[in-house]
Amino acid sequence: MGELFGKLALITGAGTGIGRAVARGLAKNGCRVIVCGRRLNRLQSVAASLPDKSILPFVLDVKDSAAVDALPQSLPKEWKQIDILINNAGHEVGGRRRFGEGTADEWAAILETNVLGLFRVTRAILPDIVARGDGHVINIGSVSGLRPGATRTAYSASKHAVHGFSESLRMDYAGTGLRVTEILPGIVKTDFSLARWGNVARAKKFYDSHPEALEPDDIAESILYALRQPKRVNVSQVVLTQSSMP
Ligand SMILES: NC(=O)c1ccc[n+]([C@@H]2O[C@H](COP(=O)([O-])OP(=O)(O)OC[C@H]3O[C@@H](n4cnc5c(N)ncnc54)[C@H](OP(=O)(O)O)[C@@H]3O)[C@@H](O)[C@H]2O)c1
Repeated sequence: MGELFGKLALITGAGTGIGRAVARGLAKNGCRVIVCGRRLNRLQSVAASLPDKSILPFVLDVKDSAAVDALPQSLPKEWKQIDILINNAGHEVGGRRRFGEGTADEWAAILETNVLGLFRVTRAILPDIVARGDGHVINIGSVSGLRPGATRTAYSASKHAVHGFSESLRMDYAGTGLRVTEILPGIVKTDFSLARWGNVARAKKFYDSHPEALEPDDIAESILYALRQPKRVNVSQVVLTQSSMP
């Protein structure tokens, strides 16, 4: 089973897409996984596809400061000692248009979820990891956090923030036993475009026009790779792009 057997992981945004694939990958490798998100039915369906007792569905909106702050106390006793945090919840609601065409509510929601939500969950989980001197935070960034692009101002800004946060957090806690990895995918075929536009046909058309898009399992595999390294190794960044569009 490898080094992951018996570890406890918490994944935000785990009811769909990349988060769901990571939950499955970790459970298959002997981890217990707390799958978080806003839609309980999505979390339950992830749990139903995996062995009993390996998955705990937990409703959590990363925008809800009070709920996130209370997370360590709210989790059941056997599910409190988290070894692996995967900050995956994120979206680009209203994206793919010029900055002035979007609404303030849309970009506020992007920053609130992708940046502040990630900060909040990290802060809630970090003290216990640091006290135990062993743990791993994986932040899901994006190639948009390295390469700015037209029509994605707010999203790209949010992922640049994830990039800066990940780099700085690793330095902040160097020597404490905390490892920090940033995963930066290109286009991945998930519900991401559906959330962006709220339109099934438009999302399908987008992915149909990117037949080379990555699969969620490709991203999960890179996370398993980072997690499996010996304690002396910190995989700092993994950038995954479509081989046809490097
Ligand atoms: N797909 C891509 O092309 C791509 C590329 C690069 C990076 N990424 C990043 O990958 C991550 C996962 O996205 P995905 O592609 O797997 O898309 P997805 O299938 O839409 O998954 C996003 C997940 O985030 C959850 N979420 C959204 N807002 C939340 C909130 N306030 N609190 C808690 N959970 C929330 C959603 O669940 P609920 O709605 O149930 O809460 C959903 O399960 C995101 O950070 C995204 O930016 C995606």
